[in-house]
Amino acid sequence: MKEKFDLLAEKKAEALKGGGEKRIESQHKKGKLTARERVELLLDHNSFQEMGQLVTHRSSNFGLDKQVFYGDGVITGYGTINGRLVYVFSQDFTVLGGSLAEEHAKKICKIMDLALENGAPLIGLNDSGGARIQEGVVSLGGYADIFYRNTMASGVIPQISAIMGPCAGGAVYSPALTDFIFMVENTSYMFVTGPNVVKTVTHEEVTSEELGGAKTHASKSGVTHFTSVNELECINGIRKLMQYIPQNCEEKNPTIEYQFKSDELRKGLDTIIPENPNQPYDIKDVIKELVDEGSFYEVHKDYAENIVVGFAFIGGRSVGIVANQPAFLAGVLDIKASNKGARFVRFCDAFNIPILTLEDVPGFLPGTDQEWNGIISNGAKLLYAFCEATVPRITVITRKAYGGAYDVMNSKHIGSDLNFAWPSAEIAVMGSKGAAEIIFRHEISNSADPEKTLAEKDKEYSELFANPYNAAARGYVDEVIIPSDTRMKLIRGFEMLKNKVKSLPKKKHGNIPL
Ligand code: HXC
Repeated sequence: MKEKFDLLAEKKAEALKGGGEKRIESQHKKGKLTARERVELLLDHNSFQEMGQLVTHRSSNFGLDKQVFYGDGVITGYGTINGRLVYVFSQDFTVLGGSLAEEHAKKICKIMDLALENGAPLIGLNDSGGARIQEGVVSLGGYADIFYRNTMASGVIPQISAIMGPCAGGAVYSPALTDFIFMVENTSYMFVTGPNVVKTVTHEEVTSEELGGAKTHASKSGVTHFTSVNELECINGIRKLMQYIPQNCEEKNPTIEYQFKSDELRKGLDTIIPENPNQPYDIKDVIKELVDEGSFYEVHKDYAENIVVGFAFIGGRSVGIVANQPAFLAGVLDIKASNKGARFVRFCDAFNIPILTLEDVPGFLPGTDQEWNGIISNGAKLLYAFCEATVPRITVITRKAYGGAYDVMNSKHIGSDLNFAWPSAEIAVMGSKGAAEIIFRHEISNSADPEKTLAEKDKEYSELFANPYNAAARGYVDEVIIPSDTRMKLIRGFEMLKNKVKSLPKKKHGNIPL
């Protein structure tokens, strides 16, 4: 029996070596960890249970039979993060460049199936040269098997992707189908076609990092939700994100212990809104005061900064926050902000995470760029996402709530449960100056002093509408509150809504304006 045990030990030791010492060294030299090191850091100590460690490929094309490695370039299995079950795959760049072929894909599919059947999150650590060129079409088939499973699992279990090396060609579409993408600066990139093809086709000269690096996807395309300066920070980011989200769509939002305290008033909020309504303030300062200390975890931080989204705990309950940012483009809604907000609202709704909306929005951004690129259908995505959300929903209007944007930003009319406004709220069809210019146009142009008349009419309109009381009179806001009371109101509000049950009309699926 000893010989049999020794044989097993020998095979396991061989598997742990991946592509061998030299390739591991080269991986480290690039500032990258190995696939196994990543899994060890991601999961709770000693919790990883590997599956398919001794799988090998079956191809002999182009000398592949002389390049057989245990595991076939991907480490798969399950373990825990903070004691909760997760399934993981981690591509091993030291084995045939982490390239994906038949057996590699089958291993990933096996744990995807288990994750879906057992209702636990799937985390994919991507580091791969793409389809294994020697295996041809079976590699493409393998990708499609994964894409199909990503789609079937969408909205059932959370799916998280980290890009920790190359991810190019069609391979990008698996991460793109998942809920959140993490990237590491300078060592990871994602693109459909690389710099060489770009140069041939469009004559643009661009580096991999410029074309599809972490910073590019964080700020320009919005493809990645999080970026990190190194792999350790990236892995810690994934572990942190897991605290806010449930295991699957049947579970409630996570809660942590919380004792209601008598000092829940946040006096700093009473002076946060500037006297001049056109002056900006930072909505993140408001968020900081409303959430449990230090619990705000921002998503998509560097993309469409005119809207802020992220997770936090309020009174010990995990919530998603969607907030206009007056400190960036006056908090206006544009195409990017609408997409960013819509995607986040849909994630929260899919996974039973209540939504807090903080509203200070002057309207939608005007201009040919916005109109020609489809602000109509893109703005409608945010509207649709809110309308469809059945989770507990609370809105606080801190200042401007103008025009269509008032309706879109989780208004009472589209299904919000509890709407508060601060005394500084201005809930109207449009800003008072613009309104006066339209409805008093003749009076102003016929006046001996048009500027003075405009100022008077502006004041008149502002006094009538730039306040929360018309909306309060109709019940469009449930309560006008002093800002310092807001945190207390939110804790009580989310507690009151914790058992909310609401369902949508029977349908196959809706048709969000994509
Ligand atoms: C087989 C591959 C491979 C691949 C890399 N390797 N990519 N083997 N199939 N796709 C192997 C290399 O031969 C090498 O083997 C080892 O991995 C490391 O690669 P290097 O080139 O030495 O590493 P580096 O210089 O870091 O460059 C990494 C790279 C480059 C930029 C990813 O390897 C590369 O361009 N690879 C090809 C990328 C590609 O065209 N993929 C197909 C895309 S199409 P040794 O033995 O020397 O260690 C696609 C379609 C998917 O993916 C469609 C889905 C719908």
